[in-house]
Amino acid sequence: MTATPILTPTPILTVAGVVHAYGDKPVLRGVDLTLTPGEIYALLGPNGAGKTTLIKTICGRLRPDAGTVALKGQDPARVPAARACLGLAPQEIALYGHLTVAENLAAFASLAGIAAKAVPAAVERALTLTRTVDRAHVPIRHLSGGYQRRANIAAAIVHQPSLLILDEPTVGVDVDAREALDAVVRGLRDIGVAVLLVTHDLEQAGALADRVGFLRDGRMMLEGEPRALIAEAFGVQMEVLVELLAEPDAAGELRLAAEGLVRATRRAHLWTRLDVDGYAAAGRLDKRLRKAGLIPREIRVRQPSLQNLFTLVAERKQAA
Ligand SMILES: Nc1ncnc2c1ncn2[C@@H]1O[C@H](COP(=O)(O)OP(=O)(O)OP(=O)(O)O)[C@@H](O)[C@H]1O
Ligand SMILES: [Mg+2]
Repeated sequence: MTATPILTPTPILTVAGVVHAYGDKPVLRGVDLTLTPGEIYALLGPNGAGKTTLIKTICGRLRPDAGTVALKGQDPARVPAARACLGLAPQEIALYGHLTVAENLAAFASLAGIAAKAVPAAVERALTLTRTVDRAHVPIRHLSGGYQRRANIAAAIVHQPSLLILDEPTVGVDVDAREALDAVVRGLRDIGVAVLLVTHDLEQAGALADRVGFLRDGRMMLEGEPRALIAEAFGVQMEVLVELLAEPDAAGELRLAAEGLVRATRRAHLWTRLDVDGYAAAGRLDKRLRKAGLIPREIRVRQPSLQNLFTLVAERKQAA
């Protein structure tokens, strides 16, 4: 019997041992990152971790002090053609507000060097892929946040790049519009585009990404498939989420802390802990909290999320 060879797809992007300092402040301390066609990768990390700096080295706008970046095997800082296979949708909407979506795309297509007779087809394709056809003739400044984000992506893909980089695409986007945005990203992945998503939105990363990487202090702390990373870190533990009817007083806060509950978000009265006993633990917790005068509106038991993993990675670092 002959063994079937396992075909490893050729990476579109290879970052190897990249080091960068601003003056004497080290920001990237040896970062590796590989993306293959048709893969969605979410780059996560706290403010100041070095995410934007890494993106700049990938775009060839910043030459690393050490290490290499290769786009389709070529250095984007030296070979302009290497940059052509990359599309960047920046965090700030980078479109002409008074021009329509279609006019913007035509302008971007010309800037990207697309021949005049090929521009209409390129514009049409970008509109379709980003589900903005129905707003093609509306000026950017009259669009909702969600449509502006998608138009921003349309401008980034009009020259048909193999790698699309999205910097914080969900800023200023409501829940419905976010789903539309996610669908656009999946659609691009399905036609073979590699997507590098820089985000603080862990929920979006968990829903979209084939792989995630946690960057912290210029180092990749953890990388892999979200489900596998979560399973490895938490085993059979479940997350117990307690939503309280009201904000607890100081004594209530102490009680919650004694139960191992930590605040999940500041907005809602939401508290969280991990427990191997999941539902049974939630039942017991409910009784004890009520006895202490802390009335839950809802207690949920669910699989640990990327948010739990993010917290764990942050704590590990502090303990080290
Ligand atoms: N041009 C610059 N000159 C000097 N220091 C800089 C410069 N740009 C960024 N830094 C510093 O480098 C570090 C990493 O910045 P970077 O913008 O890459 O982080 P980030 O992960 O993108 O953060 P955020 O989530 O806030 O966007 C920060 O401490 C930042 O202050
Ligand atoms: Mg940044």
